[in-house]
Amino acid sequence: MPKNESKEKTVLITGATGAIGKAIAKSIAATKNYKVVILARNIEKAKKTINDLKASTGNQNISFIIADISIKKEIQKVAEGWTGPLHVLINNAAATPRQRLETSSGIEMQFATNVLGYFWMTKFFTSILIKSAPARIVNVASYWAGNLELDDLEFTRRNYNNGTAYRQSKQANRMLNIAFAERLKSDGITVNVCHPGEVNSLLSNQLGFGGHESPEYGAATPVWLATSDEVEGITGSYFEYLHEAQCQFSNDKVGIEKLFGICGKY
Ligand SMILES: NC(=O)c1ccc[n+]([C@@H]2O[C@H](COP(=O)([O-])OP(=O)(O)OC[C@H]3O[C@@H](n4cnc5c(N)ncnc54)[C@H](OP(=O)(O)O)[C@@H]3O)[C@@H](O)[C@H]2O)c1
Repeated sequence: MPKNESKEKTVLITGATGAIGKAIAKSIAATKNYKVVILARNIEKAKKTINDLKASTGNQNISFIIADISIKKEIQKVAEGWTGPLHVLINNAAATPRQRLETSSGIEMQFATNVLGYFWMTKFFTSILIKSAPARIVNVASYWAGNLELDDLEFTRRNYNNGTAYRQSKQANRMLNIAFAERLKSDGITVNVCHPGEVNSLLSNQLGFGGHESPEYGAATPVWLATSDEVEGITGSYFEYLHEAQCQFSNDKVGIEKLFGICGKY
């Protein structure tokens, strides 16, 4: 067995109280030798979710940690309190409020949650992933992405529209995926991003569509990226429906580095 390759793998997933995240957590928890930790912001929802997951999968090795991913200090605190290995981080939690809201730190909510939340989770859990390498980061983004304006990431100049802000955040997820993949490739951590599928959820409803695919179908690509030998060693790639796809943002190396630099200043 290669160094650091323990039999049991620990997976941390954000947004598992939601539609796709819960299906991802369930599928991984049902797989032999996986321990699942969900990161949630609401303790009651977290408890209910892990109880449901334990009952439906039979896996009792499921727990939760509490943090709001739009708040940097909360992510830092849970990362500092983490004990044991971490083999897979799945960044999946997202929000798309219809009004322009700000966090308690005064950051526009969608940028804070969907972009900085992924960025901070990756940043603060990196050293733990490195110790557990080979390790993986899976970023759940979307095919529906665009409208990124580096000089107005928080919609102070543009009129806020939740669809536009959401598309921007998912473009940012895909761009930052490349920046992190490049930085972590020599540490034994692969970093990949995907479109999950179109699933009926709070998030999709707030964007004005229902979603015709099941949560399980939406979970299939992230779960495959998190667990399958088929993608071992692949990094910096974008996937849709279990296939690698061309990402239209991948050639904008200057924009990717600028965005990475901006996020690092928050
Ligand atoms: N649904 C689709 O059709 C679709 C399509 C393409 C991509 N996606 C992507 O798939 C992912 C999951 O979406 P979904 O449809 O499953 O959404 P969802 O059902 O609305 O779930 C969103 C999850 O994110 C959590 N969350 C939101 N803000 C948070 C915060 N500040 N801190 C911690 N957790 C927070 C929510 O927690 P609470 O339960 O506490 O609210 C919930 O668990 C997202 O990244 C989304 O962009 C979805």
